Amino acid sequence: MALSFINTVDIFCGVLCLFLLHSLLRRPRKGPLLPPGPKGLPLIGNVLDMPSEQQWLTFAKWGEQWGDICSVTVLGQPFIILNSAKVATAMLDKKSSIYSDRPVLQMAGNLVGWVNVLALIPYGERFRRVRRLFHRIMGTSASMKNFSQIEEFETRRFLRRVLTKPGDLAAHVRHIAGAIILRISYGYEVKEVGDPLVELVDQAMEQFSSSTAPGAYLVDVLPILRHVPSWFPGAGFKRTAKSWAVTMNQMVDEPHQFVKHQMAAGTARPSFTSSLMEGKSITAEEESDIKWSAASLYGGGTDTTVSAIYSFFLAMTRYPEVAKKAQAEIDAVVGNERLPTFEDRPHLPYVDALVKEVLRWNAVAPTGMPHRVMEDDVHDGYLIPKGALVIANIWKLLHDPAVYVNPDVFNPDRFMATESTLAEPDPRGVCFGFGRRICPGLHLADVSVFISCAMSLAVFDISKCVEAGVVIEPVHENTTGTVSHPKPFKCSIKARSRKAVSLIEADEHKQR
Ligand code: HEM
Ligand SMILES: *[C@@H]1O[C@H](CO)[C@@H](O)[C@H](O)[C@H]1NC(C)=O
Ligand SMILES: *[C@@H]1O[C@H](CO)[C@@H](O)[C@H](O)[C@H]1NC(C)=O
Repeated sequence: MALSFINTVDIFCGVLCLFLLHSLLRRPRKGPLLPPGPKGLPLIGNVLDMPSEQQWLTFAKWGEQWGDICSVTVLGQPFIILNSAKVATAMLDKKSSIYSDRPVLQMAGNLVGWVNVLALIPYGERFRRVRRLFHRIMGTSASMKNFSQIEEFETRRFLRRVLTKPGDLAAHVRHIAGAIILRISYGYEVKEVGDPLVELVDQAMEQFSSSTAPGAYLVDVLPILRHVPSWFPGAGFKRTAKSWAVTMNQMVDEPHQFVKHQMAAGTARPSFTSSLMEGKSITAEEESDIKWSAASLYGGGTDTTVSAIYSFFLAMTRYPEVAKKAQAEIDAVVGNERLPTFEDRPHLPYVDALVKEVLRWNAVAPTGMPHRVMEDDVHDGYLIPKGALVIANIWKLLHDPAVYVNPDVFNPDRFMATESTLAEPDPRGVCFGFGRRICPGLHLADVSVFISCAMSLAVFDISKCVEAGVVIEPVHENTTGTVSHPKPFKCSIKARSRKAVSLIEADEHKQR
């Protein structure tokens, strides 16, 4: 025990000394320099400059001061921040073959084991295999036909819940996003309340966010600490990791086994998992890929869709004239004898523009996910060193006043070309990220947001709450995180007419 104590401390001090020496002795190198940025302190670099809240706002300010490519260094780790779509595309799309790795997360990735979900898989063979699986099932807009029934069915259930309890909007949005993903991944139908799989998955996702919270675990700053034995005082993080790994593995295994049992019994509904497991015999490696891909769907697809749909309701509350205009289009094209479907989309240009505006206005993933550079590169004359983490400030790209007029205003008309004005660029070109790491669920996200918006507008009037004769302005603030959500706000949601009520209720018994 004593011996290993000395070892750990020795290693720790040794590494620290080396690190300090290295930093002190490092000469400015010849040749290209890192992109400019705020001047940091010796040794620790820009630790104190790094914002802990709403990073995208600070990053945007740096962009204004230092240019579209700027950089900061935190404890020796360079971060490259991109603040225009032009630079992000030139670097992350065009040079995708060297800009597609992910950072190594010691706590979440290696110790708990989340390194196997697609978002964290290092660039390489396994990454390509898993991306291929995603592509096979949801890689094209044509493949969305396979999901339209599930989407329409679950969205109807959502309308019914909102009608019954409009005050619980946030919970209903969460419920529908989870229900759709679990149906698609495993053909699993979620219970109205207290669903055991939803509880398991929520618990695992919560532990995932805790383990990836920046600065939460020292082992992410000093990776050497991962070798500390778990009985060691202060090594509580290792025991935490072990217990979280149990939840994670349950979340990955249990629904997978559920599908396998159903397939054996011949009762499986078609799903991501069942279609990949069907037919030819599957190797253990392939099965592991399938299992982790399905789990990656939940991680990538739930919180993001929740944020987008919740933002839609916020936008409708704040911009009633937009809602009216969209409803007029739906009434004219769809009528009021039925709910809108995917087939209507090509005939609903304003609603389509509204979907784009939802994805732009309140960026779901404001700073995207970091890309790790795999080789030294020189871009626009700047050194982008191997191992640097590149962050595209997606929020800024979607709120760049040079690209989007009055970027903070929710205005779908910006996407409708007129005789005198061009349409502004489609936000879907940046909101889903870049290069080989681009969001593999982007088609699914797009159809989910469309059907929620179209069906909700068809039957509901969404407006500001009036309490004791006073109109309540809905707050517009956002949470910080990889996925940012509007903070809870108040709104009033009422059926547009008796006809609307009967549409919501009638459709419940059809379909399955
Ligand atoms: C409005 C909804 C969504 C938005 C705005 C969004 C956005 C993003 C962004 C910005 C990234 C990072 C891309 C990069 O590194 O450059 C990403 C990655 C990812 N998304 Fe989405 N996403 C959404 C919905 C979905 C859905 C519905 C799914 C699954 C069905 C999904 C699955 C994933 C996965 C697995 C990754 C990791 C990809 C990788 O690392 O290779 N996302 N998403
Ligand atoms: C829809 O799913 C079926 C069965 O899983 C598959 O064979 C077909 O290729 C899919 N369609 C598209 C357009 O992806
Ligand atoms: C957050 O809220 C503000 C309103 O104060 C809005 O303009 C901004 O675009 C929102 N979105 C994000 C991701 O911060």
